[in-house]
Amino acid sequence: MTKSFYLTTAIDYVNGQPHLGHAYEKVISDVIARSRRSLGQEVFFLTGLDEHGQKVQQAAHNEGKTPQAYCDALALDWRTFARELQLSNQDFVRTSDPRHKSVVQAVLTKLNNEGHFYRSKYKGFYSTRQETFLTEKDRRPDGSFDPIYGDVTELVEENYYFKLKDHQQWLIDTIEANPEFIAPINRRNEVLGFLKNNELEDLCITRPAARLSWGIPLPFDPEYVTYVWFDALVNYISIPAAYGDPKLITALPDLKLDASTQSQGLALWPADLHVIGKDILKFHAVYWPIMLKAIGLALPKQILVHGWWQKDGEKISKSTGNIIDPLAVINNWSLDAFRYYVTRELAIGPDGNWTDAGFAARYTAELANGIGNLLNRSLAMLRSYRQKVVPPRHDELSHGAMTTVATVRTQLLNQDLQGALQSLFSLITTANQFIDQTAPFKLAKDPAQAQRLDEILYNLIEVCRILAVLIWPFLPTTAEKIFAQIGIVNPPADFNLAVWGGLPAGHVTNDPAPLFPRRDTLSSPA
Ligand code: ME8
Ligand code: MG
Repeated sequence: MTKSFYLTTAIDYVNGQPHLGHAYEKVISDVIARSRRSLGQEVFFLTGLDEHGQKVQQAAHNEGKTPQAYCDALALDWRTFARELQLSNQDFVRTSDPRHKSVVQAVLTKLNNEGHFYRSKYKGFYSTRQETFLTEKDRRPDGSFDPIYGDVTELVEENYYFKLKDHQQWLIDTIEANPEFIAPINRRNEVLGFLKNNELEDLCITRPAARLSWGIPLPFDPEYVTYVWFDALVNYISIPAAYGDPKLITALPDLKLDASTQSQGLALWPADLHVIGKDILKFHAVYWPIMLKAIGLALPKQILVHGWWQKDGEKISKSTGNIIDPLAVINNWSLDAFRYYVTRELAIGPDGNWTDAGFAARYTAELANGIGNLLNRSLAMLRSYRQKVVPPRHDELSHGAMTTVATVRTQLLNQDLQGALQSLFSLITTANQFIDQTAPFKLAKDPAQAQRLDEILYNLIEVCRILAVLIWPFLPTTAEKIFAQIGIVNPPADFNLAVWGGLPAGHVTNDPAPLFPRRDTLSSPA
């Protein structure tokens, strides 16, 4: 079985409302997944939820529910959210799934048997809110801890530790030998800088069950549950295992899989891409590679790190009311307008700044007046002047269009989504200018110009067809609408359709309808 292109998102904390940051990460991942599929690759796209931990246990308790019932209710909202974003994911993992828990336990058993863990007493400070241990180094100059840690309590506790230290030099060497492993480059440099200037602490991988019961029990010591991050990162391999990936079956021989799972044998691991936000880089670029090495699995090909969205230059925060509700924007402006704004506005890497005015401006200039107007004018002229019948092929814009196709292909393969949109929009501009320069509405009045008019109309409608194919990974509904209006029944989901001359003479189109209805520019996105 050939290996699929396997890409993952971070799994979101279940106890929180889906916000712009979550939507952004899931949309860029979906655009990448669809791009690869359009380019002919088999793709497995995974997203899901991170459910264990003290905060969930506490919140469930406050609502008088079991943690499982509490998570089940929230998981419904998150699945709806994924559907509303039109994510094309193959599976949706929840860390409370039995199929995930059994893999976490198999990993723990293996690493314990092979001597990667030790028990040790810890005396220090603990932040429940961040579920993390703190030391004297974490105190601020006035002796207090940052409010992000919430209540910090002092405790003495015995726990299991994972020997990270032993692998520090290996990790530095590995990152240096694999320049693509962490992208963009500034994030790679950040990780290397951290590793070269600090001695890694061993990682505490348990919490006493007496204090935290909502977690995965240690198979070799029922007094403990697994630390949430050790549990959460494993989702990236637990799903391949659940599909019988031979790499996982070899690495975890004690994992019990039923025969039908095993025979599926989907080849997924190693992941091609983990898409994450900058705040969780250390977990993915330090802990996770060392865990994989200890398990005996190859590393993912790339960790792709996106920046954080702000609104109007300020941190998105519930307490200040400075939030964007992606579903409200989608209801008001359409899903494709939302997907367009977030992928076009921000490259994958730097932080972004959402402004309602910027959103409305892009909607009007680029969607309504750009691609919407091009399709509308092209189809309307074909209807007025040629009874919707496509004239004979003509290649005036062919070279420009095929150059754009080649550029977009490369950009998609490099996950340069913003660049790909810029390229394909320059083709839209070219085609709109072509209309203005050739003035087909004037030629239509002169029967002696009939052949020239044919040529222009062919070029325009063929550019629209190719644009639909290029834009499909980003704006699937819009691309499908373009195909429907042109009168093409096959979906625009195959990059191979972006070849000049695909539309035959004599093909009959449908009537135009606005792709992005013009809006009162004063209305705000949400
Ligand atoms: O960190 N802008 O979950 P999470 C952009 N469960 N991205 C943002 C953002 C913002 N304002 N806010 C959050 C977790 N994100 C863990 C992950 S993975 C094994 C476990 C991104 O719900 C954030 O960077 O806090 C992360 O990639 C994702 O949303 C989930 O964040
Ligand atoms: Mg977070």
